Amino acid sequence: QELKKEIEAAELTDAAKLEAYRIQYIGAKGAIKGLYGFLKTVPNEQKKEFGQLINGLREIAEQRFNEAKENLENNASGNTEKIDLSRPGSAFEIGARHPLSVVRKEIISIFERIGYTISEGPEVEDDWHNFSALNFPPEHPARDMQDTFFVEKEGDQEWALRTHTSSVQVRVMENQKPPIRTISPGRVYRNEAISARAHCFFHQVEGLYIDKKVSFADLKQTLLYFAKEMFGEKTEIRLRPSYFPFTEPSAEMDISCTICNSKGCNVCKYTGWLEILGCGMVDPNVLDACGIDSKVYSGFAFGMGIERITQLKYRVNDLRLYSENDLRFLEQFISA
Ligand code: PHE
Repeated sequence: QELKKEIEAAELTDAAKLEAYRIQYIGAKGAIKGLYGFLKTVPNEQKKEFGQLINGLREIAEQRFNEAKENLENNASGNTEKIDLSRPGSAFEIGARHPLSVVRKEIISIFERIGYTISEGPEVEDDWHNFSALNFPPEHPARDMQDTFFVEKEGDQEWALRTHTSSVQVRVMENQKPPIRTISPGRVYRNEAISARAHCFFHQVEGLYIDKKVSFADLKQTLLYFAKEMFGEKTEIRLRPSYFPFTEPSAEMDISCTICNSKGCNVCKYTGWLEILGCGMVDPNVLDACGIDSKVYSGFAFGMGIERITQLKYRVNDLRLYSENDLRFLEQFISA
């Protein structure tokens, strides 16, 4: 009776369990074979009844085995037959380029078309490349213009996260001879509270052109070309006097607001102009500091924030959107 219960309760859900069952109950050394051995010791008048009981048990055990075996085999072959090769695959989602990458690529390609190379440099910079070579006097408040993240002090050497990619241009000037025509795209860091209009990091493309007799007119034409390529043929530019330690004279450039219409415009605040970059003629002190003779060569430089350009191009009104990885934002650039 006990054996019968065991046999009926045995789990036969896979091939390994089935084999274990076979060995335990119906194999040559199994429990049922053992009962047949026991038959010898049973008194003659009970042998018949006992024999019938064991036979019955064996039948039950074998039947269970055969049924389970058949089930397992059917399932296995059934599975392969059920694969439908004509069924369409499950769709997988396609990612999008980040809007800042889209715009960075576009800015780069605009300048590549007029012969600019691309240069890159480290994000952790020393004082010389981020400040001193760029004519920031020591202890001068101009250094505070760019709230710097200082990283570490090694003796006199102070390491900081670069506050602009002008540092890359210092490296280019130190290592190459004019004519130099290069742009440096990259991430920069400033210690500012994070809000819709400021972030502790952003991206820049800065440009540098150095040759003999480079003039402010060259700067203006280059930037006009850029503005038209980036924002459309009708775009106008305007330069306003400004100050940077590394350029003299310095200017800030606005583009005409193409978003304005008769209903007015809250992007340019109804002025018709949008500030997009800083620029100027490279200060002779900078050329000399970088080993370029300022009596022979002159040049211009400019720098823009990719976030700002993207904001105008795609009407993004909050800087934080760029780094929050919200798919609802990012998905809008799939076709860009
Ligand atoms: N380096 C300046 C900034 O980060 C931008 C700039 C570059 C201005 C070149 C003038 C000339 O704000």
